[in-house]
Parts: sequence; C-alpha cells; structure tokens
Amino acid sequence: MSETMKHIALYPGSFDPITYGHLDILERATNLFDKVIVTVAVNNSKKAVFTGDERVELIKQCIKDKDWGANIEVNQFTGLLVNHAQKMKANTLIRGVRQISDFEYEFRMALTNKRLAPEVDTVFLMPDEHFTFISASLVKEVAYWGGDMTSFLPPLVAEALEKKQQQNRAEK
Ligand code: PNS
Repeated sequence: MSETMKHIALYPGSFDPITYGHLDILERATNLFDKVIVTVAVNNSKKAVFTGDERVELIKQCIKDKDWGANIEVNQFTGLLVNHAQKMKANTLIRGVRQISDFEYEFRMALTNKRLAPEVDTVFLMPDEHFTFISASLVKEVAYWGGDMTSFLPPLVAEALEKKQQQNRAEK
C-alpha cells in the first residue's frame, strides 16, 4: 500500500489527563487504522490542569512500551479540529462513546464537523465496559481531594495529577 493510501485516523480530545478509558479506545483504533494520530486540543474553553505539552508527554509515556503503540503519533492543535484533520491528511475522527448520555453531544459535534468538512467522517468506538464510567473530570476531582486514582489512570499519570492537584489545593 502506498503512503497516500494509508488510512490515517485522528483521535482528538482534551486528554486532561489521558485515562485508561482513552487508552482502551486508542488500542482499539490501532487495530482498525494504519496510523492513529492522538491530538490534544489546547484551545477549548475547559480550564485544563495540564498544559498541552504536558498532556502530549503523558500520552507518549503511556504508549511507549505498548506493543500496539508503533503506528501512533501524538501532537496538539489549536483552532478547528477539521482543519487539523485536513492538515494531517486524516479522513476519520475517532471518538469514544461511553454511554448514551455522551451520544447527543457527540452526534452534534460529528454533524458540525461533517458540515465543515464533508470528507471527514467520525467513527465512534466503545471502550471495554470496565471503563464506561471513567471521565477525566471526575478523576481530577478525586485527585483534588486526595482519593485513590489507581483504577482510573496509569501510575505515571496518577503521580503527575496528584502533584498538580496538591499544588492547586495549596494555592487556594
Ligand atoms: O475530550 P473532549 O473535551 O470531549 O474533546 C472535545 C474536542 C477537543 C474534540 C472538541 O472540543 C474540539 O474538536 N475542539 C476544537 C474546536 C472545534 O473544532 N470545534 C468544533 C467541533 S464541533
């Protein structure tokens, strides 16, 4: 297959920080596409705990020893997702859908992206049922109050988040 025919998918998100749920979706995506680009949105309205660079680095650390990690690239973007997809030559966006309540927002986002760039399709993937309730925002709250994050985040991410949230609490 020539380079131009390879099927490239973009997996966008805030990844603030990456969770076991995201990693599960990412592994599934690598089984479906030749190359998966995980891309961290750094301009969305949500106040992030980690900078874009930090989020990219945490993702890279999480996948570096995975046997499914070879065809993954990690980067960040500002501006419109579809512009970034076009720049990366990706015709597919991957989004994880954990439960029905996610779907309304995801559906609106997919249709908006499709209106902006008709050649870009969104593919929804379901995580393993163990991960359906994990959300980065709830994990951040658990971390803020010193709770145990081991079942939600890889150890290196949990450690980084614990440090950030301890700092945030001390500054209040
Ligand atoms: O992990 P999240 O926060 O659910 O990811 C949402 C994200 C980053 C994919 C979405 O907010 C996004 O694409 N932002 C970039 C700006 C954009 O293109 N907005 C229009 C999409 S409807």
